[in-house]
Amino acid sequence: MGLPKKFTKIKRESERLQMIKIVEVGPRDGLQNETATVPTDAKVAFVNALSATGVSEIEVSAFVSPGRVPQLADSEEVFRDISRKAGVMYSALVPNEQGLDRAISAGVDKVSVFTAASETFNRKNINASVEESIRRFLPLMGRAKSMGLLVRGYVSTAFWCAFEGKIAPEAARNVIDRLFDIGVDEVSISDTTGKASPEEVAKLLELILPGIPSGQIAMHFHDTYGRGVANVLMSHSYGIRIFDASVGGLGGCPFAPGATGNVSTESVVRALEAGEISVGVDLEKLSNARRVLDAFLKNERRTLPDGGSQACMTCRYYSGDACCGRQAASR
Ligand code: HMG
Ligand code: MG
Repeated sequence: MGLPKKFTKIKRESERLQMIKIVEVGPRDGLQNETATVPTDAKVAFVNALSATGVSEIEVSAFVSPGRVPQLADSEEVFRDISRKAGVMYSALVPNEQGLDRAISAGVDKVSVFTAASETFNRKNINASVEESIRRFLPLMGRAKSMGLLVRGYVSTAFWCAFEGKIAPEAARNVIDRLFDIGVDEVSISDTTGKASPEEVAKLLELILPGIPSGQIAMHFHDTYGRGVANVLMSHSYGIRIFDASVGGLGGCPFAPGATGNVSTESVVRALEAGEISVGVDLEKLSNARRVLDAFLKNERRTLPDGGSQACMTCRYYSGDACCGRQAASR
C-alpha cells in the first residue's frame, strides 16, 4: 500500500520546493559585456540551444537604452526569432516604462527591474538614486502585474561595490525589503563585482531569511575571485534553490569596473551534482550551446575553462590554497 493521498501530495510539494532552478543569464549578462558584436542570428541560435539544456529560465536580453548597451540593441529581433520551448521561461531586464512597453510587445514571460545597494553604482548604472529607481519601478510594477507578468527585482552590489567598497548587509536588506514591498515576486541578490566570500553570503542570508521565504530569493554570483561556486553551495545550505549562472562564465556589468563573468553554469551544475543534488541540466547540451558563440567572441574568451572554479564539497572552498584538498584528491 502506498502513502495516503494527502502525504503523497505533501511529499511532491516538498520535492518541488527542493528543485534547483537555473536561470541562464548568458544571453543578457554574458553578451552585454562582450566587445565583439554578436550577430542577431547567433544570439537566436544560442538561446535556442540553451532551451534544450534543461535550464528553467533564460534571460534573453535587456530592453535598456541602446546607447548605453549597444550589444543588446537587437532585443526585439532576438525575441521575435527564438523558438520557445514549453516549460522554459523567457525573461528580460527592463529599467523603466519604456523598457516595459518594448518587453510586452516582444512577448516576454517575465521582466526584471534592477537597482542596487550602492548609491554610486546605481547612479552609474541606471542614472538614478536607489530611491528614485524604486519610484520609477512603481508604475511599471502595476502594469506588469495587471498583465499577469512575473517580476524579478535585482539588488546589485549586495556585498561589495567597485566604488564604495564593502556594503553593510543591513543596506542590502533594506533594498531587498523595498523591492518586495512594491510587489516583486522574487529578488536576485547579486554579487556584481564577484568579491563576496561564502561567510559574507551566509551573513546576509541569516539576516534576511527569517523574514523572506527562501523560494523567493535567487543568488547571482560573478566569479571574479573564483568563489562563485563556493557561494552557490553556501546559499544552497541555507535553502536557496534558484541560481543565476552563465554558460562558459561569460558576463559582467559594463558599469562595474573590474567585474568579470558570472559563475559558469557548467561549474554550478557540476558542483551541485557532486553533492548528489539533482539539477536536471545536461552538461553536453550546455557545452553545445556555448560553442554556438565560439566564432563570435574575442579570442581570449574562447578558451574559458569548462568547469570555471571548482568548489570543494568538503570544505566548500575554491580549489587552491584555501581548499582542504581532500575532494580534489578523490576527483
Ligand atoms: P537615462 O540615462 O536616465 O536617460 O536612462 P533617459 O531616461 O533620459 O533616456 C536617454 C535616452 O535613452 C533617450 O533617448 C531615451 O529615449 C532612451 P534619446 O532621447 O536620447 O534619443 N531610453 C530608452 N531606449 C530604449 N529602451 C529604454 C530606454 N530608456 C531610455 N528602456 C536608463 C536611464 C536606465 C534607461 C539608462 O541609464 C540605461 O539603459 N542603462 C543601462 C543599464 C544596464 O543595462 N546595465 C547593465 C545591466 S544591470 C547588470 O548587469 C547587473 C545584474 O547583472 C546584476 C548584478 O550582477 O549586479 C542585473
Ligand atoms: Mg550580473
